[in-house]
Amino acid sequence: MDLGIRGKVAIVTGASAGVGRAIACELAENGVDIILVARGAERLETAAAEVASRYAVRTLAIPADVAEIDTPARVVERAAREFGRIDILVNDAGRAHAGGLMQTTEADWAEMTNTKFSAMRRFCGAVLPHMRERGWGRIVNISSIGGIYPNPKLLVSHTLSAAINNLTRGFALEVAKEGILVNAVGLGAVLTDNWKKNMIPSVRKSRPELGAASDDEIVRQLGAEMTPVGHFAQPEEIAAIVAFLASARNSFITGDTIEASGGADRFM
Ligand SMILES: NC(=O)c1ccc[n+]([C@@H]2O[C@H](COP(=O)([O-])OP(=O)(O)OC[C@H]3O[C@@H](n4cnc5c(N)ncnc54)[C@H](OP(=O)(O)O)[C@@H]3O)[C@@H](O)[C@H]2O)c1
Repeated sequence: MDLGIRGKVAIVTGASAGVGRAIACELAENGVDIILVARGAERLETAAAEVASRYAVRTLAIPADVAEIDTPARVVERAAREFGRIDILVNDAGRAHAGGLMQTTEADWAEMTNTKFSAMRRFCGAVLPHMRERGWGRIVNISSIGGIYPNPKLLVSHTLSAAINNLTRGFALEVAKEGILVNAVGLGAVLTDNWKKNMIPSVRKSRPELGAASDDEIVRQLGAEMTPVGHFAQPEEIAAIVAFLASARNSFITGDTIEASGGADRFM
């Protein structure tokens, strides 16, 4: 299927690793020039160079912390100056945070809120004039299945995911008549470094019977137990969904949160 987005320009936050990197690759494979954003400059530059050489598109790496208040405006201004247009925004940057709502520190709560939620609103606001100018835009916010089915083991992430889903629907309604479609993708478990680093220790704690199992065995077992399709997702499986939502082939889905979880309502 030709997604009809060749020659368009996308900003992808969190594009140096995991799901965001796979999304950058999928869009680039469809002929989209990519502005990649993440904090760690070296990994980001490497990702940008690889995407450019593998898919023959233009890329630009902008190292930045999306949680900082002026980052979205700065990134969008530079992207527009260098590429002349912004058609697609994917808000992916973030991390998981295991634990209950009341066990989290104020510092963690502030960091998670700024990174996952406030940055999305600011990025949406910053790209809006550029999308309005052309009467076309696609925004995809990466959320979690827990925004719909909260899991007490991950409540900070899941409370923010619910807010992201609501922001997505509300903002979609604001811009629906202007050719700008806004959707979220609620992820189940996706096998990334983030998942392994942040989730496996928490699984080991709550499931002592898995103590002797290797990380790969835990992933296999949880995938089989918790996910109706029988396995956790690879980042590329999510990227295909995001690319469709961000494409010209999507002309009628807006405000939605797609449940991309292999049928699961929780994954640990
Ligand atoms: N993997 C899952 O199972 C799962 C499930 C539900 C939701 N999610 C959500 O999906 C998104 C991607 O997760 P992932 O598993 O792909 O994570 P990942 O592999 O750790 O990648 C996260 C990306 O975001 C960047 N990033 C993190 N904090 C940032 C910040 N403050 N400013 C700019 N960039 C930042 C990271 O680069 P730097 O560290 O260099 O900045 C990296 O490029 C996250 O929002 C996560 O919460 C994931």
